[in-house]
Amino acid sequence: MPKGTHFTFASLGDLHMREENASSFRDLFAKVSKEASALVLCGDLTDTGTVKQAELLAEELGGCSIPVVAVLGNHDYECGHAEDVKTVLTSGGVHLLDGQSCQVDGVSFIGVKGFAGGFGSRMLSSFGEPATKTFVAEAISEAMRLENALRTAKGPRAVVVLHYSPIAETAEGEPPEIFPFLGCSRLAETIDRFKVSAVVHGHCHRGKYEGRTPGGAPVYNVSLPIKKPGGEPYALISI
Ligand SMILES: [Fe+2]
Ligand SMILES: [Fe+2]
Repeated sequence: MPKGTHFTFASLGDLHMREENASSFRDLFAKVSKEASALVLCGDLTDTGTVKQAELLAEELGGCSIPVVAVLGNHDYECGHAEDVKTVLTSGGVHLLDGQSCQVDGVSFIGVKGFAGGFGSRMLSSFGEPATKTFVAEAISEAMRLENALRTAKGPRAVVVLHYSPIAETAEGEPPEIFPFLGCSRLAETIDRFKVSAVVHGHCHRGKYEGRTPGGAPVYNVSLPIKKPGGEPYALISI
């Protein structure tokens, strides 16, 4: 893609595919294919992470004629078959990112699921019981995997794909009691060490569409129920 040319991708999260809503996304994927150069799915691809749900989604993605990039969400781990979910989707041609990057038309997409832990100075720290330390270690591990993937990404334009939010701003609207479980600032701290054109995430079904990392990278909460500027269930983002 020539320098200075805009690249437009469609993004949405939290499809929560289950047997009862099969066939509901086929038309959407066909429409998106006409409007964007890539489709980016921000986790909770399935409702409970069964192989059947992954197969249904893979089937519907057959109606998508543009490259599909995705990360898993916490719901995709529920049944303990996350690796099988990944295999089904990867076999269907999806670029499933879990600490890796891929390129579409010279744009790098870097993806991890991310994890919880809270935001800013109120973020959970590695102190006290072993269970708390294990929880925080998971958040740190996801941030480090994002860092490694960002380091290896090539080209001038980079899009970070997450399930959990890297900032509190796009979680606004959710009950304050669950904020620490919606994302973690460790992700934003990592993002801000690199030049990132856009960050997309899901998981915050009742959050806010747009925000920025402390370093200024634009962040979009593309969870399915979130109202997007174009009035569609997906966001169209140009970088
Ligand atoms: Fe979700
Ligand atoms: Fe989620």
